Amino acid sequence: MRVVFGSDHAGYALKEELKDHVAQMGHEVIDVGAHSTQRADYPQYGREAAQVVAAGDADRAILVCGTGVGISLAANTVEGVRCAVCSEPYTAKLTRNHNDANAIALGARVVGPGEAQMITEVFLGEDFEGGRHQTRIDMVNQMKAGK
Ligand code: RB5
Repeated sequence: MRVVFGSDHAGYALKEELKDHVAQMGHEVIDVGAHSTQRADYPQYGREAAQVVAAGDADRAILVCGTGVGISLAANTVEGVRCAVCSEPYTAKLTRNHNDANAIALGARVVGPGEAQMITEVFLGEDFEGGRHQTRIDMVNQMKAGK
């Protein structure tokens, strides 16, 4: 799987740890930044990483900021991207099974590295169930398109 990472300064250190973990799992890693702990704006990196997924150049995005919220808001501005904030593995599982989330956002000030690794493993390992869940995603897509 090709996994694109993005973070702001607050998420930089956890992003680096998760990149190593995901590479060790055998996935291809792409990193749009931030590339240091220098202050960085989460909208830029959240949107850039999401655009890589929307363009088909990555299968999933893993995004990190202080809470996960800001960078998820930015990712969800991109058509075709469904980003969920996850603070535990249960949400990561269900957002794959039911929401077909192709991006997750983690809060580096919320979860520790061990929890973040588990969330990541579940997110990359679970499948979408389709069926009635696809109908609901279609409804959201129509809303996003202003219909
Ligand atoms: C940066 O201080 C912080 O606001 C950001 O990382 C994130 O938590 C926003 O949602």
